[in-house]
Amino acid sequence: MAGEASQGLQFVEPLIFERGAQGRNGVSLDPLEVPEIDPKTSFGALARKSPAALPEVSEPEVVRHFLRLSQQNFSIDSQFYPLGSCTMKHNPKVNEWSARLPGFANLHPLTPQELAQGALELIWRLERALAEVCGMDEVTLQPSAGAQGEITGLMMIRAYHKARGSHRSTVLVPDTAHGTNPASCSANGFKVAPFESSSGGVIDPDKVAQAIDRIGDDFAAIMITNPNTLGLYETALPTIARLAHDRGGLVYGDGANLNAVMGRARPGDAGVDVMQLNLHKTFSTPHGGGGPGSGPVAFKKLLAPFRPVPIVRRSDGGFVLDSDLPQSVGRVRSFLGNFGVMVRAYTYIRELGPDGLKRATDLAVLNANYMAALLRPTWPIAQDRTCMHEAVFSDKNLEAETGLKTLDVAKRLIDHGFHPPTVYFPLVVKGALMIEPTETESKQTMEAFAAALNAILEEAKTHPDELRKAPQLTRIGRLDEARAARKPVLRWRPATD
Ligand SMILES: Cc1ncc(COP(=O)(O)O)c(C=O)c1O
Repeated sequence: MAGEASQGLQFVEPLIFERGAQGRNGVSLDPLEVPEIDPKTSFGALARKSPAALPEVSEPEVVRHFLRLSQQNFSIDSQFYPLGSCTMKHNPKVNEWSARLPGFANLHPLTPQELAQGALELIWRLERALAEVCGMDEVTLQPSAGAQGEITGLMMIRAYHKARGSHRSTVLVPDTAHGTNPASCSANGFKVAPFESSSGGVIDPDKVAQAIDRIGDDFAAIMITNPNTLGLYETALPTIARLAHDRGGLVYGDGANLNAVMGRARPGDAGVDVMQLNLHKTFSTPHGGGGPGSGPVAFKKLLAPFRPVPIVRRSDGGFVLDSDLPQSVGRVRSFLGNFGVMVRAYTYIRELGPDGLKRATDLAVLNANYMAALLRPTWPIAQDRTCMHEAVFSDKNLEAETGLKTLDVAKRLIDHGFHPPTVYFPLVVKGALMIEPTETESKQTMEAFAAALNAILEEAKTHPDELRKAPQLTRIGRLDEARAARKPVLRWRPATD
């Protein structure tokens, strides 16, 4: 029967719209207790001319459809997912339990403050915990993603300069920054001044000084991803921060990679004025497929007048929302942010405690260095030195010897049962493979992954077509990625006879 799974046969999962039959449904509703309305009388010209084409399906059809789709997906709960820069670590299930507590999960965002005291207290406590971890004075939890946190922090920098009567508008961004950094600057109306890092993969303070001199009075800030996209710690950060401050600029720190430093080093102590952190990476929350996220912004006192509102404040033993901040950049998100992610992050921090956070950091760094040690003999490493949370390799030998590329290796990894690492990023490395094992993976898993990568290297020499055809064991083979990106078919249309 169309769409039913039969063992051993490939079948294409129909869309939910293509399932079911007219009049079928999966709910039993009580009879209407109020008079039925006539849409035409109530809504006039806005009334639908025909019923919405919604799927008409039974409960088992819905359950099977979505379960099957979920099984076609790669997930951190089923396999190792070393997607560099994304920190796809195991998320402790106790965090899911707390996020689903009815008092949190069912809280309506418009609940009056006096009836939402527990949620406000959690926000207040989480802000303080994150400020402590980052070495900052205050935190706002409003932004819903790392990139939105970047935009918010940059808005605060702009407001800070404006309040001082200056219109500084150029931000220095090194080539090892995450791609969202220059994008956030442009989205904010800042000019981006890119500059090269040193041959060792980190920022050279002399180059920063020269770049600031070139920009002169227009220098607004420097935006640094630390650890950077090569997985390296920016050891000169305090010197760079001093340089920036001496020339009237501020230091923005992209703290999305905080899982490599939390509990061991605090960006605020190194001179960072404002930073975002990605709760959905460092502090748990499964975030494959684009969400949900939370990108809190932590900042020093000098930026406090410009923070988003409302602010959760402690008052008379309770918690209130305060929007009285005349120089604030305003609200950057509806309500107070992605609350479910905050509950998970708070649970994570309370469960691990200060020592647990340090241990998570140590293991993230240890695992990345173990991965580097396993692969270094066979894969060219971008920077042959101790890394932080991720290790970056290049396909340069592979391409020279076999004509195959990083993409072929990535696709073949899927056949070996692993999610590919991030590929072709950072741009400063040719044919990059950026591997982030995270702290939650075992030695055995990492060894199995390294063995698969090495087996693929052998296959590339002996059976290169196996790589060119990969993935071969998935329901859908290799896509034409350019076409999928440029001409995506995202809308279902009913079949026409
Ligand atoms: C270093 C860095 N900065 C910024 C971001 C952007 O975060 P988001 O995807 O939540 O917008 C990421 C995402 O992984 C990141 O790794």
